[in-house]
Amino acid sequence: MKVLALNSSPRGEGQSKTGMMLNHLVLGMRDAGAEVEVIDLRKKTIRNCIGCFTCWTKTPGLCIHKDDMSGELFPKFIESDLVVYGTPLYHFTVNATMKAFIERTLPILQPFFEESGEATKHPLRHEFPKAVVLSVAGFPEMSVFDQLSSWVRLIFGKSDTLVAEIYRPAAESMTASFFKDKAAQVMEATRKAGQEIVQSMKVSEETLAAVTQDFVRDKESFRKIGNLFWKTCISEGMIPKEFEEKGLIPRPDSVETFMMILSLGFNPVGAGDTSAVLQFNFSGDVQGACHFRIENGTIRATQGRAERPDVAIDTPFDLWMDILTGKADGQQMFMAQKYKVKGDLSLLMRMSQIFGK
Ligand SMILES: Cc1cc2nc3c(=O)[nH]c(=O)nc-3n(C[C@H](O)[C@H](O)[C@H](O)COP(=O)(O)O)c2cc1C
Repeated sequence: MKVLALNSSPRGEGQSKTGMMLNHLVLGMRDAGAEVEVIDLRKKTIRNCIGCFTCWTKTPGLCIHKDDMSGELFPKFIESDLVVYGTPLYHFTVNATMKAFIERTLPILQPFFEESGEATKHPLRHEFPKAVVLSVAGFPEMSVFDQLSSWVRLIFGKSDTLVAEIYRPAAESMTASFFKDKAAQVMEATRKAGQEIVQSMKVSEETLAAVTQDFVRDKESFRKIGNLFWKTCISEGMIPKEFEEKGLIPRPDSVETFMMILSLGFNPVGAGDTSAVLQFNFSGDVQGACHFRIENGTIRATQGRAERPDVAIDTPFDLWMDILTGKADGQQMFMAQKYKVKGDLSLLMRMSQIFGK
C-alpha cells in the first residue's frame, strides 16, 4: 500500500501535536508493511485555487499554477492508495494550508454533473485515494471535532473513500510532564491505529477509545490547570514553546490549584512504600491549609488541617510557589528560616523524589 501522509501544521518538528500523532500513525503503517511518504505542507508552496477551471477545460487534469502542488504534491496524491490528512483543528475545521491543499485537488474531478443518490456529484478523472483524517485540538471535548467530521464525511463520503477519523482533543497536554504516561498510551494506540488501517482498512473501537482517552476526567479541573498555564506564560512573558523548552510548570494561584498541581506531580515510583501525611499551612496573600495523604503509591489531597500530620510546613504561599516552580531553593529558604517545618524533616528532604517534575 502506497501512503501519502500530510501534516499541515505551521509548527516545526517537536512542537506540532499533529506531527506527534502522525509520526506514530506512520510507524504503525510501516510496521504493517505500507510504503509511506510524510510531507510537511508548511515547507511547500501551495497557492490558492483561483477558480479559473483551466484544469477542467484548456488543460484537463492540470492546474494553471506552477508550484509545489502542481509539480510534486498532486502527482503524488493521485498515485497514492491512501492519503492521511493530518491537520491541527483551527476554528473547528482544517487549517488554511490543508484547505488550500484540498481545494487544489480539483483536477481529480471532471466538470460534468452526475446523479448520486439524491444529490449531484462530479465524475472522477482518476481514482480517488482512500482517506484518513487525523486532527488535534486544544479544547478537551470530543465534540470540537463534530463540524470537521461532518464535513469530511461529506467530501470523502461522495467518493466512498473515508477509512478512518483519528481525533485527539486536549492535544497540547500531551507534552506536559504530568501527562507523560497518558501521552505514551495515546502514541501507542495511534501506532496501533496505523497498523489496523493497513491490515483491515478500519480502526477498532478499543484503539480509538485509547487515542481519545481523557487526561483529566473532569473538564473543570482541565480548565483550571489550563488557565494556570496561560497565566504563567503571561506573567513570565513566554509563548508556550518557550514554556515547554524551559520545562516550567504552571504556578498555582490558590490552595485549590496547589492541591491539583502537587497531586499531578506525584511520582508513585519515587514515593515507593512511603506512608505519610504532609500538611501545608499557608500565610500571606493566599491563606489556608491543605494536606496530602500518601500511601500505597497513591496521593489524596484534602482542604484543611490533618489531625496528626507526619510533617507540617508553615509558609508564605508565594514563597512555596517560588520553591515549587524552581524560582527559589527550598533548602536555602529553610536555612534562612523563611518557612517552618514541624515533624519528620526527612520527608521534606525526599520531596523532589516523591513529586517528580
Ligand atoms: C488559529 C488557531 C485556531 C484554533 N482553533 C481551535 C479550535 O477551534 N478548537 C480547538 O479545540 N483548538 C483550536 N486551536 C488549538 C490547536 O488546535 C492546538 O493548539 C493544536 O495542538 C495545534 O496543532 P499543532 O501542534 O499540530 O500545530 C487553534 C489554534 C490556532 C493557532
